[in-house]
Amino acid sequence: MKKIGILTSGGDAPGMNAAVRAAVRCGIDAGMEVYGIQRGYEGLLEGEIAKMEWSSVGDILQRGGTILRTARSSRFMEERWIHHGAEMLRTFGIEGLIVVGGDGSFHGGLELAKQGITVMGVPGTIDNDLAYTDYTIGFDTAVNTVLGLISNIRDTSSSHERTTIVEVMGRHCGDLALHAGLAGGADVVLVPEVEIDVHEICRRVLQGQASGKAHSLIVMAEGAAFNPDELAETLETMTGREARTVVPGYIQRGGSPSLADRRLASLTAAKAVELLYNDSHSRAIGLQAGEIVSMDLREALEVKPEFDMELYKLVNVLGKGR
Ligand code: F6P
Repeated sequence: MKKIGILTSGGDAPGMNAAVRAAVRCGIDAGMEVYGIQRGYEGLLEGEIAKMEWSSVGDILQRGGTILRTARSSRFMEERWIHHGAEMLRTFGIEGLIVVGGDGSFHGGLELAKQGITVMGVPGTIDNDLAYTDYTIGFDTAVNTVLGLISNIRDTSSSHERTTIVEVMGRHCGDLALHAGLAGGADVVLVPEVEIDVHEICRRVLQGQASGKAHSLIVMAEGAAFNPDELAETLETMTGREARTVVPGYIQRGGSPSLADRRLASLTAAKAVELLYNDSHSRAIGLQAGEIVSMDLREALEVKPEFDMELYKLVNVLGKGR
């Protein structure tokens, strides 16, 4: 394979630039031409495609976001547009495509694979919601961003003896909340994967108060079954302790990528280039038990998510008031 393309798609994630950098430089090093596609599948449909040079990816490793820009493409769900995207790649002589993105982006890549394009999926999303890989690019940086915010919140919550609810991103996946809750010392973690009723939440906050805790911290995934403001109001009524909500929102999507994300991005993108160079069929590249692995793209998308219940239970033990 002599000509390959790369695009970033879906919600951006810290580390995407590291993936683009590794793909371009490993591709050129292998004697290939590497084409950058702007704005994800939308840019593909519009032919926003240009050959990249070694220098094109200089000074981006440390930058969050993606120099290729990204976009969500509703058009790309339609057969005629998927066909158009495949034809656009063929027009440029591009035989293989690296898609850096999450679940939706990988499904778009699978559609292109059905049109005869070889697609390599590199897992880029802060949500960590691709079940075939232990971690996705951007997740580690996003958790660390939330941890920095939690540290500040613990200070002021203690000063005012308040309960604070921090709602984090993750779409339908609770991993951001779970890992930030563990590392941030949450009293309670609320995730879409585990049902809990409001009385149990109140009981845990009251238990913490009774044990002398100066503040209560609840880390909630946006996909959990609660509205943060309504929950705060209920807690304030039930516990007598002031309650506040904090929603870091898009702050979680930016920032300079961590070592873990720069490493994961560089290794997975390098693997994608190697597989394309060796004319492999479409695959998803990821991390499993510390090893960089690849598996059939369709099979990767069929792997069922397994929520880390052991970690969830540990958070509850460690966050208890005594
Ligand atoms: O998929 C990444 C993500 O940040 C989710 O956690 C969040 O729910 C969503 O994107 C927000 O989407 P948008 O950037 O289109 O508002």
